[in-house]
Amino acid sequence: MESGARPNILLGVSGGIAVYKACELVRRLRDAGCEVRVVMTRAATAFITPLTFQALSGQPVRTDLLDAEAESGMDHIALARWADRVVIAPTTADLMARLATGMADDLLTTLCLATEAPLLLAPAMNRLMWAHPATRTNTDILLARGVRMVGPESGSQACGEQGPGRMAEPASIVHALLGPESAPLSGRRVLITAGPTHEPIDPVRFVGNRSSGRMGVALAAAARDAGGEVCLVHGPLALPVPGGIEVVPVETAEAMRMAVLQRIDGQDLFIAAAAVADYRPREVASHKVKKDAPMLTLELIRNPDILAEVAARRPRPFVVGFAAETTDLRTHALAKLARKDLDMIAANDVSAGRGIGQPVNALSVFWPGGERLFPEQPKAELARALVHLITERMEHVGAEPSTP
Ligand code: PMT
Repeated sequence: MESGARPNILLGVSGGIAVYKACELVRRLRDAGCEVRVVMTRAATAFITPLTFQALSGQPVRTDLLDAEAESGMDHIALARWADRVVIAPTTADLMARLATGMADDLLTTLCLATEAPLLLAPAMNRLMWAHPATRTNTDILLARGVRMVGPESGSQACGEQGPGRMAEPASIVHALLGPESAPLSGRRVLITAGPTHEPIDPVRFVGNRSSGRMGVALAAAARDAGGEVCLVHGPLALPVPGGIEVVPVETAEAMRMAVLQRIDGQDLFIAAAAVADYRPREVASHKVKKDAPMLTLELIRNPDILAEVAARRPRPFVVGFAAETTDLRTHALAKLARKDLDMIAANDVSAGRGIGQPVNALSVFWPGGERLFPEQPKAELARALVHLITERMEHVGAEPSTP
């Protein structure tokens, strides 16, 4: 493998309920730039079809050792040599036993004998099976042979019991497999804004909008999973922020601006996903405004544009803005990209209750000379796709880490 190149990953999948997490693992490995080929045991195919992994990996899935058609493509010895790393997730107690005794009674165990690539196991089984002396002995044998293991973790199990045996989370497996430095945002500092701002009218009322903060929180989680050191400056949120992210809660646009400007030096990437109120009441009443008058006129003044201010700085981070539009998405987004001098803009259609305050969203992303459309999907998935695209563009424009 050339230095800097992403390793070829052979993912073995054995038959346990945790196979669903292996789907996520494929996606994350591909997001990290790896080519992934999947080999399933016969038992694994009882839980999930090879077609699922084929769609996720973009490669044919192998299940049989003696498959004439598959062998004429990449035979199992060539597959064993192709792999830079082998990971088996989930690894059942049965597979551990077969690996420990050096059996080669199916394609996956044969590949493990035929490869020189390092082997990582993510065991997943019932807690008593994990604690059984046979499994303990097999674990010792495999570890002594240089096989590495990630997990299992402790917690509630699919069988309803509590204890060690849950397969490690895909992020932990990727981390164990590739190391922290291989994550695309490793060593990068990322500042993200999220949620609405609330602009007070009096002690109990405010001017605000329907943003829930989901999109920005999902981006913060995706950037964290991509190895970034993430700080999230957010207005009032409708959801909690997951761990591993520094949070700076604010209420108003002015407070968000201050929080951003205090932290912007040394950031590598700034993503403005917040729905910052464009205007705020000129005067904030110190007491609750009485409702005696039949009409009330609020005088509003413009808030500072945080995104434009960050984009105008030199040096500046890679700057990604959002555009929330109800008409002419593309025209308005391209105008904002140019006017605010952004590196990229992610535009969403927020007409008729779409996108804002919702769990799903679709994005049209533009950058100087390019664009990509992401169809409607859960915001967590969309955020991962967007962060992946951002890291590609950062690499393309040669954005150097701010703190080498
Ligand atoms: O929070 P959710 O419910 O998940 O909804 C997500 C979202 C629809 C709010 C999000 O995807 C989104 O589009 N965020 C930006 C909303 C917005 O304010 O768009 P805009 O077109 O008005 O602003 C353009 C850009 O300038 C945005 O990046 C915004 O953060 C930034 N801005 C705007 C005004 C201002 N005073 N300061 C800014 O930084």
